[in-house]
Amino acid sequence: MPLNIPQGHLTLRQPDDWHVHFRDGSLMKSVVSSTARVFRRAIVMPNLSPPITTVEAAIAYRERILSSVPKGISFSPLMTVYLTDNLSVNVLREGSQKAVFTAAKLYPANATTNSSMGVTKITNIYSIFETMEEIGLPLLVHGEVTDLDVDIYDREAVFIDKYLSPILERFPKLRVVLEHITTEQAVQFVQTASENLAATITPHHLHINRNAMFLGGLRSDFYCLPVAKRERHRIALRKAATSGKPCFFLGTDSAPHLRSSKESSCGCAGIFNAHYALESYAEVFEEENALDRLEGFASVHGAAFYGMPLNEDSINLKRVFQVIPERFALQEEAEKIDHLVPFHAGESLRWVVEPMV
Ligand code: DOR
Ligand code: ZN
Repeated sequence: MPLNIPQGHLTLRQPDDWHVHFRDGSLMKSVVSSTARVFRRAIVMPNLSPPITTVEAAIAYRERILSSVPKGISFSPLMTVYLTDNLSVNVLREGSQKAVFTAAKLYPANATTNSSMGVTKITNIYSIFETMEEIGLPLLVHGEVTDLDVDIYDREAVFIDKYLSPILERFPKLRVVLEHITTEQAVQFVQTASENLAATITPHHLHINRNAMFLGGLRSDFYCLPVAKRERHRIALRKAATSGKPCFFLGTDSAPHLRSSKESSCGCAGIFNAHYALESYAEVFEEENALDRLEGFASVHGAAFYGMPLNEDSINLKRVFQVIPERFALQEEAEKIDHLVPFHAGESLRWVVEPMV
C-alpha cells in the first residue's frame, strides 16, 4: 500500500499516555524514562501496594516519579486516586481543588493487580460519583466484572451492560474513560454513547488476539487484564483506534512486572510496552493505512477529552527497522536480580522514535 511519508519521517505533535503504571521504588526508577522520553504527560495509575488513597500520598508519589525523570526532559505525571468502598468525598474535593488529582480510578475489587482494596459494590459508591460529576473529576474505569460464573472473555461486555450503562444514565455529566478496551461491544458502546464517555486502547490489544497466550505453550508475556480476545475484537479495536473518532485515544496500560512475577504458578497480569509504545502504535496505523490519524489518537483526542492544552513540541519517527531486545535492563542493583521483558521482544518494528534531547 502506497505511503506518503516524506523521506521516511513522520512528525507528530508530542503525544501523551493517558494510562500507565509506573510502580514504585527501583522498578519505577527503571521505567519512568521509557515513558518520559516520548510522552509529555501521562496519567499514572494508583494501584500501588498500598494504593494511593490520599492527597498526600499522591503528592509524594508524584515527587518520586519526577525525581526519576532524566535531566533535560519535560514530563508531567498526572496523578489519580484509587476509589475504595469508603473513600471520603472530602479527599476527592481536596485533591481536585489543589489540582493534585486528574482523575479517580475505579477497580472492581479483585479484578486485577493490587485491586483487593477496590470497590466491592459499585452502587455503594454512587455518592462518590455524584461528587465527581459535580466537581468535574473524571472517572477512569477498569471495566470487568469479577463474578466467577462469568467467563473471563465476557467480563468486559457484561460490565458494560450491568454497571457502565446505568452509571452513565444516572450521572449524565460525569466524564468517564473506559480503560484499555478489548471488545467490539466496547467499541460499539463508546462510539454511540454521549461525548462524556471515551476509551483508551493499548498497543498490545491492537497487535495480539487471545491465541498469543497459548502459542506453542503457555506464554505469560501476553497475559494482561482485560485479556486479549478473539481476532474479530482485535480487528474492531484497530478500526476504532484508526477511525479518527475523538472518543478513542492512546493509553498504553504499560504494566511492568519482573520476570520472576510473570513466570510463576500464579503469574501477574500486565505487559511492559512503554519503551516502544509509539513505534508499536505507528506500525498498526501504517498497516491500516491511517498514519495521518496517528496524531489525533496519540496527541489530540486525549487532551481534548481531559480539557487540557495540546502539547507544543513535536516528535519525529524515522522509518527504519529496529529489533526489540529480548530483555529490558533494569537499573543497577535491581538488574543483578531480575529483569523485564518488553512487548515485541525479539520482533522487529518498522519505526524508531528520534530522541527529544
Ligand atoms: O494487565 C494489567 N496489568 N491490567 C490491569 O488492569 C492492571 C495492570 C497492572 O497493574 O499490572
Ligand atoms: Zn492499567
